[in-house]
Amino acid sequence: MTDKLKHIAIIMDGNGRWASKRGLPRSMGHKKGAETLLEIVRTAADLRIPYMTVYAFSTENWHRSQEEVDYLMGLLRQYLDSDLKEIKERGARIIFIGERNMLADDIVAKLEKIEQETSTNQEFTFCIALSYGSRSEIVAAAKKAALAVAKGELKVEDIDENTFSGLLYTAGIPDPDLVIRTSGEQRISNYLLWQIAYSEFYFTKTLWPDFSAEEFKAIISDFNSRERRYGKV
Ligand code: IPE
Ligand code: IPE
Ligand code: MG
Repeated sequence: MTDKLKHIAIIMDGNGRWASKRGLPRSMGHKKGAETLLEIVRTAADLRIPYMTVYAFSTENWHRSQEEVDYLMGLLRQYLDSDLKEIKERGARIIFIGERNMLADDIVAKLEKIEQETSTNQEFTFCIALSYGSRSEIVAAAKKAALAVAKGELKVEDIDENTFSGLLYTAGIPDPDLVIRTSGEQRISNYLLWQIAYSEFYFTKTLWPDFSAEEFKAIISDFNSRERRYGKV
């Protein structure tokens, strides 16, 4: 019996290579990639997938050239103002995970506003990992637990997998059932390390700007044919 697909996590990779192959600047790959994202979120909403998390910008991506980082932040501002509007109107609860203190103040203000405006929406949850790094998320959770113990609000013996999950940015969100990475790279790049303990993986060579609703649906049907055993027989 296959589990119901509740949560898809995507590593949207290959924008730069898509552009380079066409003799275009990397920024054009990011621009096309943002259009792909809108198409995939629409498809996920049509398919009634309850949760989708996308890796938009990692903590490591801050080390790219200033020019590329600036372009990506500009694109993000646009995305927050325009594309997300349609997604909001479709009843999505939108949340952001990652290190906000590294983002510009005006972006943080937009994120907070969107989260607040959509907090009671129930159609589906769209989670965007922005300035996100999984190891630092785990360290932050450990610090929260230590602080709560020091203040006498939490007992060491009460720290279990559930309480720890509740201290991560993804508190309350079920673990991803399926992780998709585009562009042929077969690595995790510091994404949701705790949360993917039992996720299924799908790596496609398609570069993110070329990823389509058709391929997305084909991957979901591949997932639906898999047997998940969780250590049992
Ligand atoms: C993914 O595409 C988008 C971000 C990481 C922001 P890349 O920019 O990593 O594209 P490649 O991997 O260099 O082709
Ligand atoms: C992972 O892609 C981060 C995002 C998709 C936002 P990268 O392109 O940054 O990953 P590496 O550096 O190839 O592992
Ligand atoms: Mg990449």
